Amino acid sequence: MSTQHAFSTFPSRFVWGTKTAAYQIEGAVDVDGRGPSIWDTFSHRAGATRNGDTGDIACDHYHRMDEDLDLLAQLGAPAYCFSIAWPRVQPAGSGSANQPGLDFYRRLVDGLLRRSIVPVITLYHWDLPQTLEDAGGWVSRDTVGRFADYTEIVAGALGDTVNMWITLNEPWCSAWLGYGTGEHAPGLRDHGRAAAATHHLLLAHGESLQVLRATIPNVAAGIGLNLQPIRPATDHDEDRAASRRVDGNLNRLFLDPLFKGVYPADMLDHYSGLAPGLAVVADGDMDVISRPIDFLGVNFYTPITVCSPARRAEARAAGYWIPEAASSARVGDLNAVQVLRPDVTRTQMGWEIEPGALTEILLRVRDEYGTLPLYVTENGAAFDDYVGTDGEVRDGERIQYIDGHLRAVLTAVAAGVDVRGYFVWSVLDNFEWGHGFSKRFGLTWVDYSSGERIPKASFFWYQRTVRANSLEP
Ligand code: FCB
Repeated sequence: MSTQHAFSTFPSRFVWGTKTAAYQIEGAVDVDGRGPSIWDTFSHRAGATRNGDTGDIACDHYHRMDEDLDLLAQLGAPAYCFSIAWPRVQPAGSGSANQPGLDFYRRLVDGLLRRSIVPVITLYHWDLPQTLEDAGGWVSRDTVGRFADYTEIVAGALGDTVNMWITLNEPWCSAWLGYGTGEHAPGLRDHGRAAAATHHLLLAHGESLQVLRATIPNVAAGIGLNLQPIRPATDHDEDRAASRRVDGNLNRLFLDPLFKGVYPADMLDHYSGLAPGLAVVADGDMDVISRPIDFLGVNFYTPITVCSPARRAEARAAGYWIPEAASSARVGDLNAVQVLRPDVTRTQMGWEIEPGALTEILLRVRDEYGTLPLYVTENGAAFDDYVGTDGEVRDGERIQYIDGHLRAVLTAVAAGVDVRGYFVWSVLDNFEWGHGFSKRFGLTWVDYSSGERIPKASFFWYQRTVRANSLEP
């Protein structure tokens, strides 16, 4: 029994938290001088999001901030990660600051601190000012300098009280879903631009880091990446090559430059025919990108299995299920097809649930990229939640999902990986990008017509877990 106990208890300084993003919860898109972002434009485009949903109101967090702060206090997780909407702070993405925008985040930070909750800031969670997109967005090198200026404004305004900073959230999504597959804003479908955007995002991270170091030298600064183990459907060489390509695009294209100062040779090769592609790399850039960070944020949801497109039939024969659209979006331009394991349970997103894959990723980062502190900065799941006739939301599947992934974190910790904390995505149901409001990831149910918040069973479960700093057997 005592081993069981030891195995389910977290390190004494383990940071428990939850995370949100500005566009997904705030609403109030045209108040107090906020400018339009690429997500405002994109979500209003016909057919871009499920049911035409937009973040115009979302959870109306902008107007319900106090209520949400009280909810966070009730939850009792000692840390909360939120993102700053760049167009609230600099409506057109350059020039002087919009004070009412900064004031909102000051109130948020102060409200957290009053409730003894540690604020963690993400500087960029995908809502680029539209004006900058009109000038080329992340495909343009100028955006890098704009991001550094924006960083300086936010660091100057909030750096006195916020000690943990994430420059970018999931630059892969910004680059490849935004400029490659078109699933996300700005909705372009051009892999050459996606590759260039990748580089400019990473460069912006490096420049932003430098600004943080110069302005607020004592804070911890890092970046948040979406990482996924990629497996070949079979042992066949072609499937293994396909999985290597997808791994190159999703994982190594970001990890290698950040930690080794180089793009992976196979990816440079793969994207060499594209314009502008990675030809935008200039002398000195890789040094900027690989400046040491204090921690890496790992966002993890699911592993991926792929086969070579020529081997769909073999993959089917091996028992895999290949969806009609074959999720080609995720692995577009990589000559790979995503396959699903029929015996593995999936979330409402269709994502396979495999907590051990999180352990795998944490170990891999340590083994291949170094021993820096890691935080699981996002993990969670969407399920078909509903409010029962008694007013309760019994989301046992979410509890099981989070419990399993927390155990996976403990397995990594037991293997000596320096995992310092875990943030649930998310504390509220919210605007899930292209899926609109159809996917609920929250520990709290949000009634989008009345704005009412109803803590789900997982909310109370997480509250107990955080308090105990351990998992129930
Ligand atoms: C991540 C995003 C976050 C949310 C979750 C479900 O990729 O960072 O905003 O959409 O997925």
